[in-house]
Amino acid sequence: MNTINAAKDKQVWNSSKVIDVYTTVAQLQKPEQTILNLLRDRLPFMRMLDLGIGGGRTTVHFEPLVYEYLGSDYAENMVEACIKRFPNVGERTRFEVVDATNMVGVPDKYYDLILFSFNSIDCVAPEDRNKVFQEALRAGKPGGYFVFSSHNLRYLRTMYRLKWYKKPNELLYQFYRTAKLIYHNGLPGKYDRNDFAVIRNGIEHFSLNIYYSKPEYQVKVLKQMGFQSVRAFSYKTGQEIPLSQLNSVTKDAWIHYLCEI
Ligand SMILES: C[S@@+](CC[C@H](N)C(=O)[O-])C[C@H]1O[C@@H](n2cnc3c(N)ncnc32)[C@H](O)[C@@H]1O
Repeated sequence: MNTINAAKDKQVWNSSKVIDVYTTVAQLQKPEQTILNLLRDRLPFMRMLDLGIGGGRTTVHFEPLVYEYLGSDYAENMVEACIKRFPNVGERTRFEVVDATNMVGVPDKYYDLILFSFNSIDCVAPEDRNKVFQEALRAGKPGGYFVFSSHNLRYLRTMYRLKWYKKPNELLYQFYRTAKLIYHNGLPGKYDRNDFAVIRNGIEHFSLNIYYSKPEYQVKVLKQMGFQSVRAFSYKTGQEIPLSQLNSVTKDAWIHYLCEI
């Protein structure tokens, strides 16, 4: 079984090559836009903790709208890059190093909105994952929200599938990628009975192992942890997915979860 070494992976997130990529992106994913629209009227009154901000993609959209904003990442160089990228923020905005599994210095019941976007939670080792939920429940205000996205184990077969490309170099890359997926993880059928698995999916040139789970299992865990209500949204369409349909979602590479604290 693949494992996740968060301390080692931090070196990847701290590298200038990766930071250069993440500081140039600004677009919200469709479900993030849906959730922003759902909360829009309340954002001016909300204190927001943005975890794992990377190069500040979500900062661009949320920071100007919320009452107070703390942008954070466990990779120090990402935080430094955000300070440089957003020099003109207001006095109620800060950027700080925070590890989502152990949010030292973050007060109890303080934040109305906690975001851990773009599958950042999947960089956390399976044995530490619940610590993130515990910390969100601790630092979030009752009635507030924890929003995150996470890889969908039911997408695995779709991910391995070879697509037809006219350009030979793109086609060749497909073969290379699928061969690498098989080499690192075995065939996708191996995980059919799993609730979750750690997969080397190609992110950052196959340097990282990433947590995948079946969406209905993720919802079960969130409810067991104590979130009051959980909603799921499709990465592809941005639309809400009824929880009863989560066990047939195979086309979304990841799912967005909106959880009430
Ligand atoms: C895929 S990037 C996403 C960056 C950003 N959220 C975005 O949407 O562009 C994952 C980010 O999560 C951060 N990260 C991983 N594990 C973390 C942890 N335990 N606590 C805080 N940040 C973490 C990484 O340093 C990296 O910046």
